[in-house]
Amino acid sequence: MTIDPKEISAPEMHGYLLGVIAPRPIAWASTIDKDGNVNLAPYSFFNVFSSNPPMLILSPALPRDGQKKHTLLNAEETDEIVINIVSYPVVEQMSLSSTAYPKGVNEFVKAGLTEVKSDFVKPPRVGESIASFECKVDRVISLGQEPGAGNLILAEVILGHISDEILDENGKPDPLKADLVGRMGGDWYARATPDAIFKLPKPNRNLGIGVDQIPEFIRNSTILTGNNLGRLANVTALPTQEEVEAFGQTDEILEMKMRFVNHRESFEDHLHELAQIFLNGDEVEKAWLTLLQVTTL
Ligand SMILES: Cc1cc2nc3c(=O)[nH]c(=O)nc-3n(C[C@H](O)[C@H](O)[C@H](O)COP(=O)(O)O)c2cc1C
Repeated sequence: MTIDPKEISAPEMHGYLLGVIAPRPIAWASTIDKDGNVNLAPYSFFNVFSSNPPMLILSPALPRDGQKKHTLLNAEETDEIVINIVSYPVVEQMSLSSTAYPKGVNEFVKAGLTEVKSDFVKPPRVGESIASFECKVDRVISLGQEPGAGNLILAEVILGHISDEILDENGKPDPLKADLVGRMGGDWYARATPDAIFKLPKPNRNLGIGVDQIPEFIRNSTILTGNNLGRLANVTALPTQEEVEAFGQTDEILEMKMRFVNHRESFEDHLHELAQIFLNGDEVEKAWLTLLQVTTL
């Protein structure tokens, strides 16, 4: 399907965007107004956009009634904001704090959360959060006057707090301990549990060969996936013919050659299946040595 924002309503567009631009991190923003009333609300139009200076951006939208959200009003009024990070153990309280309570109502109280005094800014941080960032508002950029228009709050981090409980032995945030949560479309959320997250090595610094340089009989495989080709293309050079021939003397390959002596196509399919197993186990070199066995026939 194709979507033309001019042909559909703003709420429909909102739904499509949020359904696929996901999962999004959630800023749990704590602010105060000029009278010192504390406010807390979640915002998933949020991310880090600079580390030097350390700059976070979140975007309270203009609601249908056109009245600015309390977070935006307070950020403009006092130039201070604390951005707390949401993990699974606090999702229900985070969701509750999104309720549109009247201005002046403290959502820390409504959601049963602990106010911890910040070091440099007046808004408190959420004691239950795994991380909090005390920020000065650098600037606010309005993206329009219609309902749904974003208002970017550019928040410069002046002090960060990270719970020791989520650090690894080197003092770095451990994704396996953080139990982070992301916002998806509709009522959906994502939870970064150990079985849901995975590692992907960074592309080769020495420039991988690229998918276009993978021999055609491999590139056009009906078995290998785009992910498989992406990993294969990350090597700087293909194995030498001697290496391929030496690998061809291993029991597994010799047995396959015997089994499919008069069935070249089946042999190739099996090579691709075996290569895929090697790729799934991060053994890229063995995958290449396997795939290139057809060149020894
Ligand atoms: C997980 C989550 C993410 C949200 N993200 C946004 C957002 O990015 N922008 C926005 O305008 N409202 C967002 N909302 C809705 C606000 O939290 C809600 O309007 C809240 O009442 C605003 O509170 P405030 O007026 O105290 O700032 C989100 C709600 C939830 C539960």
